[in-house]
Amino acid sequence: MSKNPPLEDDEVMPISEAIKRFKRLRLVYEPSLGILGFFFVGLCLVLSFFYIEYRTVAKTKSQGLSDQSDRYLWLKELDVDSYNNEENRVGFLEESGNSCDLFHGKWLWDESYPLYQSKDCSFLDEGFRCNEFGRLDFFYTKWRWQPTHCNLPRFNATLMLEKLRNKRLVFVGDSIGRNQWESLLCMLSSAVKNKSSVYEVNHKPITKHMGFFVFKFDDYNCTVEYYRAPFLVLQSRAPKGSPEKVKTTLKLETMDWTADQWRGADILVFNTGHWWNYEKTIRGGCYFQEGEKVKMRMKIGHAYRRAMKTVVKWIQEEIDSNKTQVFFRTFAPVHFRGGDWKTGGTCHMETLPDFGASLVPPETWEHLKLIQDVLSSPYFFNRSETVKLKVLNITVMAAQRNDGHPSLYYLGSASPAPFHREDCSHWCLPGVPDSWNELLYALFLKHEGYSRPINGDSDNFT
Ligand SMILES: *[C@@H]1O[C@H](CO)[C@@H](O)[C@H](O)[C@H]1NC(C)=O
Ligand SMILES: *[C@@H]1O[C@H](CO)[C@@H](O)[C@H](O)[C@H]1NC(C)=O
Ligand SMILES: *[C@@H]1O[C@H](CO)[C@@H](O)[C@H](O)[C@H]1NC(C)=O
Ligand SMILES: *[C@@H]1O[C@H](CO)[C@@H](O)[C@H](O)[C@H]1NC(C)=O
Ligand SMILES: *[C@@H]1O[C@H](CO)[C@@H](O)[C@H](O)[C@H]1NC(C)=O
Ligand SMILES: *[C@@H]1O[C@H](CO)[C@@H](O)[C@H](O)[C@H]1NC(C)=O
Repeated sequence: MSKNPPLEDDEVMPISEAIKRFKRLRLVYEPSLGILGFFFVGLCLVLSFFYIEYRTVAKTKSQGLSDQSDRYLWLKELDVDSYNNEENRVGFLEESGNSCDLFHGKWLWDESYPLYQSKDCSFLDEGFRCNEFGRLDFFYTKWRWQPTHCNLPRFNATLMLEKLRNKRLVFVGDSIGRNQWESLLCMLSSAVKNKSSVYEVNHKPITKHMGFFVFKFDDYNCTVEYYRAPFLVLQSRAPKGSPEKVKTTLKLETMDWTADQWRGADILVFNTGHWWNYEKTIRGGCYFQEGEKVKMRMKIGHAYRRAMKTVVKWIQEEIDSNKTQVFFRTFAPVHFRGGDWKTGGTCHMETLPDFGASLVPPETWEHLKLIQDVLSSPYFFNRSETVKLKVLNITVMAAQRNDGHPSLYYLGSASPAPFHREDCSHWCLPGVPDSWNELLYALFLKHEGYSRPINGDSDNFT
């Protein structure tokens, strides 16, 4: 791991502009945002009180003295209703849980979280180790996703590793995919005593710019891999004779060059989205190409659809659906408030979720709609019998988690970053991507035909 990693070319603010913080402050008092601003100031006050209280509780608790703090009890009471209802819900892994929509639900406070500590996991980028590099609050690690109509199985790393024996689990996508992959490495390795039995097969250290990593869990002969392919389709040099402003093209009909290596995976988890915007394509001289033709005027939404069609076709033709389970994780929203990554947007000091998901920018929903369109198009629909693609529909749940980003604490020992260069697109770990992996876990176990023993208590949270 490099010290002071350069700002990633990924979603986070590649350009620094001199930003006036005043602009944001002024914004807060503008009529449309005034109420919101007022609410937030209030929230911050409450929170700071809350936080101090929480630390006290945590401390007394750890000293085995008492956990009878009013504040703490109040927090738990917030969830009492849901806890009570939980007994009436079926387990997702039971047969009666088959029709349960895992992505419809809410975040519940749960003292038994997080599932691991970042300091115990050597696989994490410094950029995700928020608390180790300055973030003070731990609230964001304490929320568990509760589907409305069923209960998720409690994550059991040993069980997952057993089910992964002799298998390959492959993540393909942008750096948010890497975020989720590192989360799973930590979740799984928490159950492995001999830490040197988990290693990168080519002895590559985790850095941001490598094309791919293959981590092996020796005792289980399984690998958990990540391939960096932010568009999923191939980005390559511009064809000869292209206009000068065309630096590279995205070949919308060709898969990324690492696709051959994904093919034999047992579980494939795709994601793409954060790079399908003007900044990451046209502005940098990256145009879209179909056949030999560079399409100078093609709209990004259209190009995205075209690329997804290529991905679906590839899955149909190259993937043995008897062997490989394919997941597509939907767009993970960013939470730059009062601007974006280059105009001083911020998520600093946001320590509680926003259950109304009011802080996400509109392109979040545009991306969700795009993928919905692709999946419901006749092209996909005709193939859906053969292409068994499951959607990890995490956009709505993640939209509520404005509190989960590194903000100023993504630079490792160089943190905090200047206020105008916050990271509100990646996620602190442990944190929100752990929940996506818990959903992946549930769907994987279901697929493997695992159902918990009747009256077994392993899935019980109460
Ligand atoms: C986790 O799974 C393993 C392997 O199936 C099992 O032995 C263990 O009891 C499980 N742990 C819990 C807490 O349920
Ligand atoms: C280990 O897993 C791979 C598949 O990932 C398989 O081809 C190989 O046979 C396995 N090795 C053993 C010793 O089971
Ligand atoms: C730990 O794992 C490594 C790699 O698999 C192995 O060489 C070593 O013997 C293991 N150590 C113990 C104490 O089991
Ligand atoms: C997948 O499994 C089914 C049923 O076991 C079998 O009929 C089919 O030929 C298999 N397909 C492939 C591509 O192996
Ligand atoms: C994802 O979930 C949202 C909210 O539950 C829903 O509106 C949307 O249709 C879902 N999209 C897909 C592709 O499943
Ligand atoms: C989908 O299937 C219908 C009937 O099976 C067919 O008429 C139509 O052309 C197909 N559409 C595509 C895009 O393949």
